[in-house]
Amino acid sequence: MRARRCQRRSAHERRGSSPRLQDRVVVLIGGGSGIGFEVARRVIALGGSVVLGGRTPSRLEAASARLGEGARWQTVDTSDSASVEAFFASIPVVDGIFTTAAEYVVGPMRDLDPTDAASPFESKFWGQYRVVRAALDRLSSDASIVLMSGAASVRPPAAAPAYVAANAAIEGLARGLAVELAPIRVNAVSPGTIDGNLWANRDEAVRAASFAQFSADTVLGRPGREGEVADAVIHLLTNGYTTGSTLYVDGGYSLR
Ligand SMILES: NC(=O)c1ccc[n+]([C@@H]2O[C@H](COP(=O)([O-])OP(=O)(O)OC[C@H]3O[C@@H](n4cnc5c(N)ncnc54)[C@H](OP(=O)(O)O)[C@@H]3O)[C@@H](O)[C@H]2O)c1
Repeated sequence: MRARRCQRRSAHERRGSSPRLQDRVVVLIGGGSGIGFEVARRVIALGGSVVLGGRTPSRLEAASARLGEGARWQTVDTSDSASVEAFFASIPVVDGIFTTAAEYVVGPMRDLDPTDAASPFESKFWGQYRVVRAALDRLSSDASIVLMSGAASVRPPAAAPAYVAANAAIEGLARGLAVELAPIRVNAVSPGTIDGNLWANRDEAVRAASFAQFSADTVLGRPGREGEVADAVIHLLTNGYTTGSTLYVDGGYSLR
C-alpha cells in the first residue's frame, strides 16, 4: 500500500499535476448529511473512499448505504477527545480530512450566557482542532486537510461576535497548520448561507427571512448550494500547490 502511494505521488509530481483522489481515504466527520455528504459523493465518484463520522448511527448508516461501496462509517463526537482518538484508531492511513461537525449558539454578547457564547469556539474551532490532532500520526505525507469556516469571519452578518471570531480563528488555524504540517496542505473553505440540510431544519419563517437578507446582501443574489461548497472542498483536497488559503464560496458576500 505504502509503495503504491509513493509511486502514485512521484507520478503526479513528475507530470507536474495535482494529487488525485483515486484509492485515497478521506475522513468526513459530519459527512452523514449536508455539505459533508456532498463531498463524500464526489470523493467516491473520483475513485476514493470515505469514512463518515457523526453521533447518530442511523444517519450514518443511511448515508453510507446511499453512497454504496467506498463508504464506511463510525460514530464519533468531536466534543470529546477520547471519542475522536478512538475514531482514528481504526483508520491506518488518512489522505484527506474535512469536518462539518459543529453545534453552537449564535447571538449578541449582551444576550448570551458564557457557555452559549463560547459554543462556536468549543464546538466548531476546538472540535476541528481535536480532529486534526488525533489524525496527525496517520496522515500520509501528501495529505490535504480542509477546515470548515464561514464567511461571517470577514463580514459579520448580525450581532454575533463570538461566532464571527471563531470563524476567523479557524482561518488562522489553517494558516498556522499549513506552516507546521507542510508538505501536508491545510486550507479553509468559508461558505456564505447555503440552502441545504442545516437550514432545512430551522423554522420556515426564519429561513425565508435569512435567505432574502443574504440574497440582497450578496453579489450573486442567492444563497449557495451544498454541491457548490463540495466542489470547492474537492479543489482544496486535490490542488497540490494551495496551502494556508481560505476559499470563500459565498456568492460575493464578503465583497460588499
Ligand atoms: N449551511 C450553511 O449555511 C453554512 C454556512 C457557513 C458555514 N457552515 C458550516 O458548515 C457546518 C455544518 O455543515 P452543514 O451545513 O452540512 O450542516 P449539517 O447537515 O447539519 O451537518 C452537520 C453534521 O455534523 C454532525 N455533527 C454535529 N455535531 C457533531 C459532533 N459534536 N460530533 C460529530 N458529529 C457532529 C451532524 O450529525 P449528528 O447530529 O448525527 O452528529 C451532521 O451530520 C458548520 O460548521 C457550519 O458553521 C454552514
